Amino acid sequence: MVQVGVQVGARIFPLLLKLEGRSPSGSTKGRTARALLLGLLRCRRLHAGNHIVESSSGNLAVALALLTAELGVSFTVVVDSKTTSAIHALLATTPARVDIVDCCDDDGSHLSARLERVFEWRDSLPGAVWTNQYDSPDNPLAHYSETAPELLAQCPKPPDVVFAAVGTGGTVSGLARRLALLSPQTTVVAVDVVGSLATGGEPGPRLLTGIGSSRRIGFPLADNVIVSRVHDRQAFAHARRLRDQTGVGVGGSAGAILAACARYLATATDDVTVVCLCADGADRYANTIYDDHWLADRDVLISDADLLPAMRYVP
Ligand SMILES: Cc1ncc(COP(=O)(O)O)c(C=O)c1O
Repeated sequence: MVQVGVQVGARIFPLLLKLEGRSPSGSTKGRTARALLLGLLRCRRLHAGNHIVESSSGNLAVALALLTAELGVSFTVVVDSKTTSAIHALLATTPARVDIVDCCDDDGSHLSARLERVFEWRDSLPGAVWTNQYDSPDNPLAHYSETAPELLAQCPKPPDVVFAAVGTGGTVSGLARRLALLSPQTTVVAVDVVGSLATGGEPGPRLLTGIGSSRRIGFPLADNVIVSRVHDRQAFAHARRLRDQTGVGVGGSAGAILAACARYLATATDDVTVVCLCADGADRYANTIYDDHWLADRDVLISDADLLPAMRYVP
C-alpha cells in the first residue's frame, strides 16, 4: 500500500493505493488463480495428469500459467486479439499453451468466442478441467478470505470507501462481502467501463482489458456496493497522470478506478479515507495505454477534459 495525494480544487485528499502489481504474479488475479486451483484440489478434481483450461484477457492467464507450472499440471489458456504483447511475453516464459481467438461478438468483445474455444479444449483434451473463473465460488472466496482482511490490516483506520474494478466481479463480490462484516462503515465502489454489461448498461466498444465484460457478472454484490462507470479515455488519462505526477505506475483498470475516485472526492467531506485496489501495474501496458501511437491508432485523444478541472496527483 502506498499513499499519494489527490488535489481537487483547493483541497488535497490522501489516497491509499493497494498496488497488486507488486504481488508475485504481477496482479490481483494471482489470488484468484490460487483459490481456483485450491478449490479443485480440495474437492479432489485436480490430479497429476489433469489439464487445466481457462479463458482470460491476460492477468489470470499469467497467474495460472505460473502456478500450474509449479504444480506440474498442463495448462491451455484461451486469450484474444486484445491481449497485450506484455502478457504474451510473460506467457512465453511458461510452459502454457496459448490459443488466441480473434472472432468477436457484435459489440466487439471476444468472451463468447473464447468460451466456445474453452469448451472445445475441455471436451477434447483427456483429463481437462475448466477452472471457470466466471462462476466458481472460489473466485470471490479469494478476495473474501485474503484481499479484504489484508487491505484492512494495511490501512491506518477503516476506510470510508474502497474502489475496485469489475471484470468477472469476483474481486468486488468477495471483497465487499467480507468488508460488510469486518468494516460495516465501508462502502465499496464497483468500477465498470462504459460499453460493458458487467454491471448493467448498454453494450459498446471498449479498449480496456481486464475491466468490463460483454455479459453480466455471475457473482452477487452485497448491499455495501455501489456501481460507478467511467469512459476508457478517462481511465487512460488518470493512469498516465498518476504516473507523470507521482511516479506510481498502475494498469488500465486502476486508471478507471482513479477516475471514479476523483469524481467521488470532488463532492466528499475533507476527512474521508479512500483506498483504490489497483489490480496491476503499468509494466503490462507500456505498449498500449502508455503508448501515444497505440492511442492515436485508435483515435483516442486524451485531454485535460478527461480529468476533473484543477485536479492533480501529489507524490
Ligand atoms: C487489470 C484487471 N483489473 C480488474 C480485473 C477484474 O477482476 P475480477 O475478474 O475479479 O472482477 C481484472 C480481471 O482479470 C484485471 O485483469
